[in-house]
Amino acid sequence: MAPKLSCLLLAFLTFFSIQSFTGLARILKSEHQQYSFSSLQKLEGVRKGQTVEGLVELKQYLKRFGYYPSDVNLMTSEFDDLLESALKTYQNYFHLNVTGILDDSTIKQMMIPRCGMPDITPNNTKSKHTKFHMVMHYNFFNGMPKWPPSKYHLTYTFGSDGVQVVDMDTLKSVCSDAFKKWSDVSQLTFQEASDGASANIVITFYRGDHGDGYPFDGPGRTLAHAFSPEDGHLHFDAEEKWSANPAMDQIDLESVAVHEIGHLLGLAHSNDSSAVMYPTIPPGTEKRDLAKDDIDGIHALYGN
Ligand SMILES: *[C@@H]1O[C@H](CO)[C@@H](O)[C@H](O)[C@H]1NC(C)=O
Ligand SMILES: *[C@@H]1O[C@H](CO)[C@@H](O)[C@H](O)[C@H]1NC(C)=O
Ligand SMILES: *[C@@H]1O[C@H](CO)[C@@H](O)[C@H](O)[C@H]1NC(C)=O
Ligand SMILES: [Zn+2]
Repeated sequence: MAPKLSCLLLAFLTFFSIQSFTGLARILKSEHQQYSFSSLQKLEGVRKGQTVEGLVELKQYLKRFGYYPSDVNLMTSEFDDLLESALKTYQNYFHLNVTGILDDSTIKQMMIPRCGMPDITPNNTKSKHTKFHMVMHYNFFNGMPKWPPSKYHLTYTFGSDGVQVVDMDTLKSVCSDAFKKWSDVSQLTFQEASDGASANIVITFYRGDHGDGYPFDGPGRTLAHAFSPEDGHLHFDAEEKWSANPAMDQIDLESVAVHEIGHLLGLAHSNDSSAVMYPTIPPGTEKRDLAKDDIDGIHALYGN
């Protein structure tokens, strides 16, 4: 693991220093590029050695979520060793067959709506996550940022500069339930701020580019993102079909809120598919309850 991580490190360092909200905005603005799925579907079956229009978007997608090992040839349509390696890392993460080929099941996985935060972070402390000889899947951000004991009682508010897409009563009730999932299993407590200006956590729905370097991308694809402690910003993509009681084509607001709050508290993505911190959630699905992996992760950060 160590040598692999060290060669990945350089490329990822700038991309994933997400402790600082403004630092993130500064770094990512120039790097971010939209990827499109219509082109992805046309790429089924491509493999190493081929040069095919549309591979740049695939590389951008893999880079954005932490899989692309370097900036080399990122802007060329050549399917090279680096792309094969990135694709294999992605396939391994999502428990697919590790073929290195952009096959049907890989494309289908890429099309499932997901969180905008990366899956792979450099310096992850994976090797330490063993308990009773079991490998844990939960993960932290670089440097394991977390709220200090003086801030275990966190306040939240709803940003006033966003788009109103869910009525306030529903939003408040959903968020209160979502915070409770985490307060039930940790020493942390959450309360809506009486004075919004001093809140630790700010929850806002935005459309498209909203100034933090992670522009939202319209319906589908990325749904939300939230930053590691002590940033406190949680953003939902206003263009999703949000619902507190989702039909087949809608996204469950509470499930995504529970996931994003995990990021606010310091948990990164887990590849345990039962975990709330798993990166993807299909429309019409509810995953509101913390799995053992999520609880083990929050305990590893804040104690039992
Ligand atoms: C994800 O899950 C698989 C199998 O469950 C595991 O082998 C893999 O190493 C995990 N982690 C990452 C970072 O891919
Ligand atoms: C992996 O490969 C096996 C054997 O070819 C196949 O049966 C299975 O469906 C594949 N799994 C996925 C997720 O594509
Ligand atoms: C990653 O680890 C290296 C060596 O341990 C350290 O120098 C570097 O600052 C770390 N990077 C981040 C982003 O934590
Ligand atoms: Zn996430």
